Amino acid sequence: MVNILVIGSGGREHALSWKLSQSSKINKVFTAPGNGGTENNIPIPVDDLDALASFAQKNDCFTVVGPEAPLAAGIVDKFNQMNLRIFGPSKNAAQLESSKIWAKNFMKRNDIPTARFEIFDDPKKAHDYVKSLSYNVVVKADGLAAGKGVIVCNSTEEAISAINTILVKKTFGDAGNRIIIEERIDGIEASYIALSDGNIAIPMASSQDHKRIFDDDKGPNTGGMGAYSPTPVINEILAKKIQEKIINTTIDAMKEEKTVFKGFLYAGIMIRDDQPYVLEYNVRMGDPECQPITMRMDFDLYEYLVASVDGTLSSMPAPLWKNQSAVCLVLASNGYPESYPNNEEITGFDLIPENVYVFHAGTKNQDGRILSNGGRVLGVTALGDTLASAISNAYAAAEKISWPHKYCRTDIGKKGLPHL
Ligand SMILES: Nc1ncnc2c1ncn2[C@@H]1O[C@H](COP(=O)(O)OP(=O)(O)O)[C@@H](O)[C@H]1O
Ligand SMILES: [Mg+2]
Repeated sequence: MVNILVIGSGGREHALSWKLSQSSKINKVFTAPGNGGTENNIPIPVDDLDALASFAQKNDCFTVVGPEAPLAAGIVDKFNQMNLRIFGPSKNAAQLESSKIWAKNFMKRNDIPTARFEIFDDPKKAHDYVKSLSYNVVVKADGLAAGKGVIVCNSTEEAISAINTILVKKTFGDAGNRIIIEERIDGIEASYIALSDGNIAIPMASSQDHKRIFDDDKGPNTGGMGAYSPTPVINEILAKKIQEKIINTTIDAMKEEKTVFKGFLYAGIMIRDDQPYVLEYNVRMGDPECQPITMRMDFDLYEYLVASVDGTLSSMPAPLWKNQSAVCLVLASNGYPESYPNNEEITGFDLIPENVYVFHAGTKNQDGRILSNGGRVLGVTALGDTLASAISNAYAAAEKISWPHKYCRTDIGKKGLPHL
């Protein structure tokens, strides 16, 4: 039997390792570097590709990559050269996420609906451009900026200041050598994740994240304060449109252009007048979206990841999903996304009911005690027969968990309720 190596240390990776360890085809699941909730942690950082490859080789691992950075650095190409089995896109295919400019040009030439845009490296030309527009814009750094390189603007002045932040002050370093200025689309945001083997893509699930730190989507952006799946914001008609116009077109065009895409394809969508527009692609599961999505899986995830790598998804049965809602509530340390204390002991895990799973993110296990070790600490993830019951199950469970600086939003999932 094969072993699994999950790469990463967040809630997403705990969810993946939790789900994969349920497969009858798996011997042991390792996580590198993992967190206080994952088992068999291997202390190799996600950017040490050589050490990860040699661990995978010695331990006969099928490797599953959680975060984008190692994908953008070419971990899949490296493992393939060494004949190691690994799930995820190649470095070239990962450009869908690692270069927003690459992705926008790709969408443009393949008629994939997205906000109209221009690209700049000269601040003066960018200033003149935004002054000439009659609509609001979003200014985006080209490269990976840990979810911070996008500035949504409410006026020309804000746009000019955003241009200066990225192109002049270089707040995001080389990731901001070039920028996209695109039309701001005001609508409802949701995400749609599919699994591809390079030839076809099967839908995983729709979901909605909550990016801002405070209730009612107020305050600064974070890595995500909670998510639920499925989201009623994406109804059947819209799902069909997204699958056909966006996901299938993307997978076909990537194949056609010789950047075959294998892995999880995540489309960040804005819905305006019942039409979906792609805000961005991610080339991996979202975090926290991964947590509610894995909770709803009624199939052996490992078999599907193998089929993605082998290009055999079309011979797999349609994956079965629990006919329930799942809500993941992120418990953070107060002060996140700025500064916050670490090393506070967390208690209450023994009081969590059966329909709830607590995924760890910023935690560590010190001699059997679980200590906080990051801004986003836990993802309390609950199932329920309805969205409303999943929400109340998640909040009831989250109340059992405590540590001095625990913080969470009180409205996760609620924005889905009016759409039911
Ligand atoms: N064209 C747009 N119109 C309106 N809002 C946008 C647009 N592009 C991005 N946003 C907002 O900015 C957020 C971050 O942008 P995104 O492209 O997803 O980059 P990243 O996740 O890398 O920060 C989105 O989740 C969305 O809320
Ligand atoms: Mg995004």
